[in-house]
Amino acid sequence: MSSKKIFPAKLGGTVTVPGDKSISQRVAMLASLAEGTSRVVGYLNGEDARSTLSAMEQMGAKAEFKDDALYITGVAGELRQPEEPLDMGNSGTGTRLLAGIVAGSGIEAAMVGDASLSSRPMGRIRQPLELMGARIGLTGKKGTLPMMIAGGNLQGIGYLLPMASAQVKSCVLLAGLFAEGKTTVIEPRPTRDHTEKLFQALDIPIQINGLEISIEGFGKQGPRYKARDFFVPGDFSSAAFWIVAVAARPGAELLIENVGLNPRRTALLDVMKRMGADIEVSVTEEKGDPYGTIRVRGAQLKGTVVEGDEIPNLIDELPIIAVAGALAEGQTDIRDAAELRVKESDRIAEMVKNLQLFGIEVDEKEDGMVVTGPARLKTPDAVIDSHGDHRIAMSVAILNSFSDGAITIENVGCVDTSYPEFWQHMEQLGGTVE
Ligand code: S3P
Repeated sequence: MSSKKIFPAKLGGTVTVPGDKSISQRVAMLASLAEGTSRVVGYLNGEDARSTLSAMEQMGAKAEFKDDALYITGVAGELRQPEEPLDMGNSGTGTRLLAGIVAGSGIEAAMVGDASLSSRPMGRIRQPLELMGARIGLTGKKGTLPMMIAGGNLQGIGYLLPMASAQVKSCVLLAGLFAEGKTTVIEPRPTRDHTEKLFQALDIPIQINGLEISIEGFGKQGPRYKARDFFVPGDFSSAAFWIVAVAARPGAELLIENVGLNPRRTALLDVMKRMGADIEVSVTEEKGDPYGTIRVRGAQLKGTVVEGDEIPNLIDELPIIAVAGALAEGQTDIRDAAELRVKESDRIAEMVKNLQLFGIEVDEKEDGMVVTGPARLKTPDAVIDSHGDHRIAMSVAILNSFSDGAITIENVGCVDTSYPEFWQHMEQLGGTVE
């Protein structure tokens, strides 16, 4: 099992983070269904994005990396039945979105994953897919992987999402591409809209009316659209670690270029501003999924409340927001975030435990936590285990840059799912990692 030793450091400088995980995986799926070859620049070279791409290759797409770009040749709507189970690794997004495509396409496939993915709830996609007419078997103990999908002949449905989840929304919309008639999803709160933006870029007819999104199905022959070129901006959720590392240190400065700025992803910036950080954003490209530059100047932060509609738009940033809370004056109260308990790990329990190891005052709540700062960090004697959760590993590494001793984080291979260059970038920004 791999581990890393992290030393205290004042981080700052300039960095470009790797491609967005959510967009990369959606591009892999949609380019694989297209007619012709798509050129993709910025595709994430991380394990989750690779698992999804391999699954698409198993179903007939062709993928080749050449001269810094990825070329995907699609199947023009007609997927091939895979000979082996699709191994989705650690990827919840890959599994849930692809389940919609497989269910629509009329092939039969099994999906498996690693221990973390195999403990995550899949009943949330089984329900709408079964309503559309697919057969979904979840052979794990608690509505979990392995999953068997037998689809085809889907009917459009109207579906009120029981939770604010872009993965479930996208699963239903992707299945809706293959359905007869119209499929409508209604979200309880706005979530990331990369799928919708990509449908628009591919001229797939989609109607968006506030929280109601509809798509007219192509029927069981599958969607017909032409390949195109894609640019995947840097992943805001990867940038978030450096944003907090610098925002919480008076005098520190950071510049991040070509990073995704979709407003459904960047609520962390509003939180950091409320906490007192000095942040400037400039948009380079507004069309499609926007991206640009973020400049951060550090300050003494103060606590805030994070809740409600903001939650889905910073769901993956909550572990690092808890770190910001520990460094801020007063209380940082995270609420309405019970979804965090079913991510790659139970991120509420894991962050509470890890913050306590550093001597930080934190109260665990069913749907969040209350962190009281500013903490005088006590370097833990214990080795910290990421429990296979990339965002926990990276959040603890950033927290320790503010301590006065070295710590060891175990089980850090998971960082490769979203940000393989993380340790190298930490050194580039002035950190020491062994
Ligand atoms: C994602 C949606 C979010 C997020 C995940 C990626 C996506 O999950 O946590 O990392 O790409 O759609 P939920 O939509 O299930 O909350």
